[in-house]
Order: sequence, then C-alpha cells, then structure tokens
Amino acid sequence: RTVYLNGEYLSETEAKVSIFDRAFLMADGVYEVTSVLGGKLIDFGGHLKRLERSLNELDMKKPAAFDDLLEIHRKLVELNGIDEGLIYLQVTRGAPGDRDFAFPDPETTEPTLVLFTQNKPGLADNPTAKKGIKVISIDDIRWGRRDIKTVQLLYPSMGKMMAKKAGADDAWMVEDGFVTEGTSNNAYIVKDGKIITRNLSTDILHGITRAAVLKFAREAQMIVEERPFTVDEAKDADEAFFTSASAFVMPVVEIDGTAIGGGSVGQVATRLREIYLEESI
Ligand code: PDD
Repeated sequence: RTVYLNGEYLSETEAKVSIFDRAFLMADGVYEVTSVLGGKLIDFGGHLKRLERSLNELDMKKPAAFDDLLEIHRKLVELNGIDEGLIYLQVTRGAPGDRDFAFPDPETTEPTLVLFTQNKPGLADNPTAKKGIKVISIDDIRWGRRDIKTVQLLYPSMGKMMAKKAGADDAWMVEDGFVTEGTSNNAYIVKDGKIITRNLSTDILHGITRAAVLKFAREAQMIVEERPFTVDEAKDADEAFFTSASAFVMPVVEIDGTAIGGGSVGQVATRLREIYLEESI
C-alpha cells in the first residue's frame, strides 16, 4: 500500500514519523475519515470544511492548501486502486524535537500530514445493515470539546471493548441522562414517524453524514427533531440507527438488551440508507 507523508508518496513500510511528534506524545492532532464508493470520495467538501474548523479551534497550522488535499486524496485512491473503502487523513502539530506542554512555535515546527487508504469491499452492500446492530449505553467521560475531531480516541476504543465484552457491537454514550453519540458515530431514534437526534453543540461531533442524512430526510418530507433523548426513550422507540462516514446509516435493533421496534431493522433507517447511498455516489 502506498501512503502519503509530508509531501511524499511512500510505501507504508518506508513512511516514518518522529517519536517527538505531538500526536504521539500528547494526542495533539486532528483527523478525518472519508469514504470511497466506486472510486469516488463521498462528502469530501464537508470533511475538508470540518478539518479546517478543527485546525482553527486548536490553533493549528494548515498542512497544505486545501486544493492540494483533494489532489492527494484522489491520487492515493488511484495509486491503491480503491473502489470501496476509506481514506484517513491526520494532521498533527508536528515534532518540535522535545517534549513540552506548551505548543511549539508554528514558525519553526511544521505540521505532520499523513494519509492512508483502507480497502473495504462491500461497504455499501453491507449485510450488517440488513440485520442491524446491538448497542450498550456507557457513561460519556470524554473531554468537553467533542466537536473537534481529535485523535484522543482512547475512551471510544474502551467503549467498543466494553460493548464487545457485553456481547454487543457498539456503545452509545450518556451524559446527564441523555445520549450524546456513539463511540464513532451520531445516534438517532425514530418515534411516531419523527427522527430524533441530539442538537449540535460542543457535546458531539458535527457529523458530515449526519448533515447529509438530515438534509435528505427533510427533502423527503420526514420530520426531524434535533434534541437530546434518553436511553429509556431509545428503548421505547420504533427504530434506532446511527450515521458515520464509514457505516453511512446503520440500523440499531437493541440497546442494553432491550429490543427496539421488535428487534428488526426499521423502515426509516432502511429508506435513509438507500437515499444516502443513491444521492452520494
Ligand atoms: N468517526 N461522532 C464521533 C465521535 C465520530 O468519531 C464520528 C466519525 C461521527 C460521525 O461523523 P461523520 O459522519 O462525519 O463520519 C460522530 C469516524 C468515522 C472514525 O473515527 O472512524
């Protein structure tokens, strides 16, 4: 596999980053994951915009002109012959050559820019989307700026492991009694025909797939309510699902051992997945 590192296309074994890189020592980096379907980037403009926002919020330097980033994405997809899969981009504050809590001088420390692809045939035609997945609820103990897409992913990783241990597939995080989001996705329920998902704030990541799916839902005359919901509401919902760039729209059929909507995949989630894939490809 060919990867990209700071201006060069290299084999994955050749690409090397300093041990002083701030992402390695401090999780001082941001990232984006864009899906690839039929060799094309999905929702790329949205991902680039969010990247810019993450960089601004953390006072991080742009690693390259944004036009160049599109070019790099396209070239890497082509070099690796990706038809269906993902492309991962990470920008870090660079490697100042020592460990220090204070940010290094951006004049002397260049950001580290890394991109790689992941081949995932069957991403669109995913059999799991026909079955749905099971989630557990866990406390949301992450930091308070979840709207910034940083590489601090230890707690989401732990959440996935807690889910696995409980015989489930993923975890939805709960703060002050309300679901914030999934470990790596935005969470939704459907009740009496209404799609309910948490409103945007610093409590959750502003999902690019979320924005697209809500737009398509509204265009299809579906009712959307952007507000927090509880685990009890999820248990009592007609349907549940989540969205992310890597899973699109994924039905959720169980939470904390309670079947949602009789335990089978719902119509709204199925329809939204179809619309999203049709409109995005
Ligand atoms: N995760 N919430 C969190 C905490 C996420 O990590 C993600 C994405 C989302 C969905 O955002 P989007 O629709 O823009 O992918 C919501 C990516 C896919 C990941 O970490 O792999």
